[in-house]
Amino acid sequence: MKKILVTGGAGFIGSAVVRQFINDTDYAVVNVDKLTYAGNLQSLASVSNNPRYHFEHVDICDAAELVRVFREHQPDAVMHLAAESHVDRSISGPAAFIQTNIVGTYTLLEAARNHWNGLDAKRKSTFRFHHISTDEVYGSLGETGFFTEDMPYEPNSPYSASKASSDHLVRAWHHTYGFPVVTTNCSNNYGPYHFPEKLIPLVILNAVSGNPLPIYGKGDNIRDWLYVDDHARALRLVLERGKLGETYNIGGWNEKTNLQVVQAICSILDELHPQGAPHNKLITYVTDRPGHDQRYAIDANKIARDLGWKPQENFESGLRKTVEWYLTNDVWVQGVTSGEYQHWVQTNYTNRSAA
Ligand code: NAD
Ligand code: TYD
Repeated sequence: MKKILVTGGAGFIGSAVVRQFINDTDYAVVNVDKLTYAGNLQSLASVSNNPRYHFEHVDICDAAELVRVFREHQPDAVMHLAAESHVDRSISGPAAFIQTNIVGTYTLLEAARNHWNGLDAKRKSTFRFHHISTDEVYGSLGETGFFTEDMPYEPNSPYSASKASSDHLVRAWHHTYGFPVVTTNCSNNYGPYHFPEKLIPLVILNAVSGNPLPIYGKGDNIRDWLYVDDHARALRLVLERGKLGETYNIGGWNEKTNLQVVQAICSILDELHPQGAPHNKLITYVTDRPGHDQRYAIDANKIARDLGWKPQENFESGLRKTVEWYLTNDVWVQGVTSGEYQHWVQTNYTNRSAA
């Protein structure tokens, strides 16, 4: 494999994948991203001047633009991460989730299949479409048990229902057209460059500013946390060695209640940012999320057994790294909190409409 087309490469996980490919491999990367509020080119500042990196400001719902991108770049593989990703936004405004996650995935599948059909036999046989999805498609667990790859889908939120739909489309494109796909379903990620609407970065930045730390309901919902660079390493392994048509669950064996997560962040901040300690005095219980899933927990045995993957970080080491990153990366944090990170989009849209 030489050139990977990554969709959503300006997002939280996509940017970790792109940075890893540029820094740790000799692959070239084409980043296809619409730059919604969640896309941030500042997350790619360390690699954006590399000659193996190329950015395409494109919406995955735009079929004509996708045809152009495939024709110009002739990728050897696709990693599809572009999505609307925040559950709370999917509850207040599901339309964008249906559009990008379902219609966008369909449009991308067709552009990629068209490209694959035109490849010579050798390149056609090694081409891969890697669909990146979530464990939320399996629904909510009770007190025991884990999500396994053969579990039925029971998505509960507009977000997880839209991701489940996209997983089914990808599966059908393999079954019907023989299109070479692999799918991964991952648990909650955390780490640097995470947009501060999600629990962990929101709590870190609110605590540092002395603002309330909102906990939905009783704080007893459980998530299974994975450090984002561990996820990116797993994705690369699945892209390179995953079996076509298979799905792989990816998780960190790190189940925590939301209250445990928030308390852990507060303890690290009490040590690293003693002004304002104890930070847990800011914890505020707020109205629960409608339809809030109680527990997610991944059985990650398949990817460990078949591909030899295991995470390098445990929750304590990963969370400490994450808090330290937010305390020391003022430029990125200021860019996001001030809205300055959208400057590139505003300038380029303005230039385009003026042209
Ligand atoms: P994110 O919201 O941080 O980034 C999404 C990226 O997609 C952004 O750069 C955005 O600009 C881009 N995008 C959105 N709509 C687009 C469109 N129509 N065309 C082109 N680009 C578009 O998301 P993330 O947390 O990095 O998640 C990446 C993928 O991983 C998603 O598919 C998500 O469902 C999945 N996932 C996320 C998690 C998690 O904990 N964050 C866990 C499991 C799976
Ligand atoms: P989130 O980071 O939005 O991820 P997801 O909904 O995909 O799991 O939320 C993680 C957990 O934290 C989830 O159970 C909802 C909860 N939560 C809060 O308690 N307060 C908050 O302000 C947010 C954003 C989330």
